[in-house]
Amino acid sequence: MSHAIRAEGLVKRFGDMVALNGVDLEVPAGKVVGVLGPNGAGKTTALRILATLMRPDEGHATVGGHDVVKDPVRVRSLIGLTGQYASVDESLSGTENLVLLGRLLNMSKRDAKKRAAELIERFELTAAAARPIATFSGGMRRRLDLAASLVGRPQVLYLDEPTTGLDPHTRNEMWEVVRRLVADGSTVLLTTQYLEEADQLADRITVFDHGRVVAEGRPGELKRRVGGQILHVRPTLPADVDLVSRMLTELTGVVPARDENIGLLTVPAVDQMLVSAVVRKLDAAGIASDELGLRLPSLDEVFLALTGNTTDDKQDTTAERNVA
Ligand SMILES: Nc1ncnc2c1ncn2[C@@H]1O[C@H](COP(=O)(O)OP(=O)(O)OP(=O)(O)O)[C@@H](O)[C@H]1O
Ligand SMILES: [Mg+2]
Repeated sequence: MSHAIRAEGLVKRFGDMVALNGVDLEVPAGKVVGVLGPNGAGKTTALRILATLMRPDEGHATVGGHDVVKDPVRVRSLIGLTGQYASVDESLSGTENLVLLGRLLNMSKRDAKKRAAELIERFELTAAAARPIATFSGGMRRRLDLAASLVGRPQVLYLDEPTTGLDPHTRNEMWEVVRRLVADGSTVLLTTQYLEEADQLADRITVFDHGRVVAEGRPGELKRRVGGQILHVRPTLPADVDLVSRMLTELTGVVPARDENIGLLTVPAVDQMLVSAVVRKLDAAGIASDELGLRLPSLDEVFLALTGNTTDDKQDTTAERNVA
């Protein structure tokens, strides 16, 4: 399979700070690769190098077969970049921004206007097209920023945390937009701190931590790599949660992770017989549960196992989970 992006041994230092410490990355043409990692992992730095905005200190990378350092002009003709911070002029309207970008890309006035109108329609910005960007909501801004990166019809699209800060509904809309782009043949490299986002959109996921690749694979493979399944139990009575937690610890040797809000306990199920053992114990103790079963680990649990970090506000369960 041909690769749209290929990077080998990328190193980038900022003074003493090593932002990238030997990163390899491959993105097959027409696919979506998600780079997943916590704050400061080096995601934006990698994207900036692949977008020719920054040179690597070591290593090399090609986009569409062209070297990002030796042939940046060719590379730029192939790519579109949607930044972590929107790159549009606040005082201009949505349409004016897109036309301006088209003109900067050497389009005729007529072509630039036509392209802007297409994109405004495609991203459902018609109602707001004539308003200054300063009045746009966060979701509209992201859509406009994405539209802006598509003015030049790039083959390869970089999306740097496309949905950070968006509400769940708007996030879903963005995901649909990205899926449509890929269905139309674009190659997408996206960074995200959201495991669910990578799971939803990406064919393959590369996990960064402290400037290194700590894991790579299909979402399902990554989930399996962390091993086995997860047993989940939700006692009907909140008062039983402590007792059930102790039972699970006895049976598995691991203190279960616990979601206090809903009284849900989860623990790695290494032994296939664990479910029946738990059922017998609960039955003997007369404890009813609303939920009991096995599932594959979530990407959040995978990420934790791979890096020892959570990416979000679930820090409070980290200590318990790390007992494993
Ligand atoms: N221009 C710069 N000068 C100095 N340090 C930098 C520069 N750009 C990035 N860094 C540092 O390099 C490291 C990686 O930063 P980077 O922005 O690539 O991380 P990230 O994974 O995109 O994080 P986030 O999720 O917060 O966007 C960080 O420690 C950051 O502080
Ligand atoms: Mg970043």
